[in-house]
Amino acid sequence: MRIVRAKDYQDMSRKAANIISAQVILNPEAKLGLATGTTPIGAYDQLARWNAKGDCDFAHVQTFNLDEYRGLSHDDPQSYHYFMRDKFFNHINIDLANTHVPDGSNLDAEAACYEYDALVKGVGYVDLQLLGIGNNGHIGFNEPDDHFSKGTHCVDLTESTIKANSRLFEREEDVPRQAYTMGVQTIMMARSILVVANGPKKAQAVYDMIYGPVTPSCPASILQLHTNCTVVADEEALALCPQE
Ligand code: GLP
Repeated sequence: MRIVRAKDYQDMSRKAANIISAQVILNPEAKLGLATGTTPIGAYDQLARWNAKGDCDFAHVQTFNLDEYRGLSHDDPQSYHYFMRDKFFNHINIDLANTHVPDGSNLDAEAACYEYDALVKGVGYVDLQLLGIGNNGHIGFNEPDDHFSKGTHCVDLTESTIKANSRLFEREEDVPRQAYTMGVQTIMMARSILVVANGPKKAQAVYDMIYGPVTPSCPASILQLHTNCTVVADEEALALCPQE
């Protein structure tokens, strides 16, 4: 794992955006795996600014998001479909037909997950997977478990994730209890991985991801076994990690 120390959120966002834009410049038809959550928003803003200046062209890029809440329509402001348009896709020159998010509006979990898996596999997996990390070490919505998951599947969210994500909803009861997520195996198929993390709440998960045992009780720890994984994190998120 390559660890990149950032001073603060802005620095983390800029460094992450640089890595993503390098990927797109080197391969204008890149397939990007994208993430939601508050952490990547700064990187998306930066990329949109570079896109507006003509420095980073998304015209031929395809994107595949990690996850989506089960039961939300694509236009629900709490859905990840909406989030991605609002925070990123509406601000860059991407063709919306080239953007993909698991179909949370399809309540048939088996069909929705099978379809998404076939899609990601069909393009030969992604060139770069962007990941945030949950306070409990989850990636996508792969929660701590006794085994690592494989393909796209439906998960029951843990109480800790429901609580953490409730800050983005009016009431905790409004947070959907289930989600569709790319599996850990699918994530590991990405040719490169970029993890972003900031703030003190992520310090333990970041430490466990980098230095802890590789265990499904911290899903992000499996990234230690990926041959091309970069972590860009700010000082607060790296607070428990030794200065190397
Ligand atoms: C959600 C998403 C994850 C994300 C996590 C952390 O659970 N499914 O992909 O990494 O939140 O979110 P934040 O970046 O807001 O801390």
